[in-house]
Amino acid sequence: MTHIAVLGSTNMDLVTYVEKAPHRGETVTGREFRTIPGGKGANQAIAAARAGATVSMIGAVGNDGFGTRLRSTLELPHPRLRSGGGTPIGVTTDHLRTIEGPSGTAHIVVDDAGGNAIVVIPGANGTVDHLAPGDEGLIASADALLLQLEIPLAAVLAGAQTARSHGVRTILTPAPARPLPPELLDATDLLVPNEHEAATLTGRSDPFAAGAALLDRVPRVVITLGAAGSVYLTRDAEPLAVPAPHVTAVDSTGAGDTYVGALAVALGEERPIREAMTWAATAAALSVQREGASASMPYRSEIEARYAS
Ligand code: RIB
Repeated sequence: MTHIAVLGSTNMDLVTYVEKAPHRGETVTGREFRTIPGGKGANQAIAAARAGATVSMIGAVGNDGFGTRLRSTLELPHPRLRSGGGTPIGVTTDHLRTIEGPSGTAHIVVDDAGGNAIVVIPGANGTVDHLAPGDEGLIASADALLLQLEIPLAAVLAGAQTARSHGVRTILTPAPARPLPPELLDATDLLVPNEHEAATLTGRSDPFAAGAALLDRVPRVVITLGAAGSVYLTRDAEPLAVPAPHVTAVDSTGAGDTYVGALAVALGEERPIREAMTWAATAAALSVQREGASASMPYRSEIEARYAS
């Protein structure tokens, strides 16, 4: 089984569902409020575990009620699996520290078109600025390391360089978008931005042009385009565009994380890139049809059933 390590954030998502997000200075009445475990790191970890990998999470939660729930959600994302006597599809949290202080939170407004706006307060994630003892051994034992940008850049860089030194594949989601040090790109095997992140990194709004620019430093790039699918660029072949299944989205929160988690599993199983991207897009399409980030992520059996159809 593919072993994936994730170095990244955990957030409690404080989600408000509303017909239309308010403009600046406007007050609107929403429909529902929910707290749903999220964070780009934890989301990718849960997505990969549900897609069929063994997954270990490196990061931090606070010593508050959110932290307890975030940890237990990672360990057992679906309580029914335990009560049903099956093997729990959980994430190993031995390297998820509990620190004095609040957990990370994400304040999310989801509108009726399934779009969202998010403000993240890092909380405990902000303390993950280095690798702790034992983290290197865990990274070295993995087939791939998944990274995002919701923890301090110093730790992301240390994780990527550690993985690289042990021959472990690094997959970086450059979100939230920000300029990146060249050393981080140099230690990245596969970069998976969405089209907006790719534009921020390169100054080019056309995904093919942005991808071509990114290939100066990274050998392989997948740019996700939401409902329009995704494109793959590498130095030694023509770009490959892969469509996404047509679905009606109710909540796109975490769709990119679902895509990356599933893509990492498919690549770990050595599926060809087109198949891996289609499989990942299938997982993401299933996730946007349900509310929440981690709560919406599909299990392998669901992905396989939809993929086969
Ligand atoms: O990518 C989706 C995630 O972004 C949410 O779960 C939220 O926590 C923010 O980090």
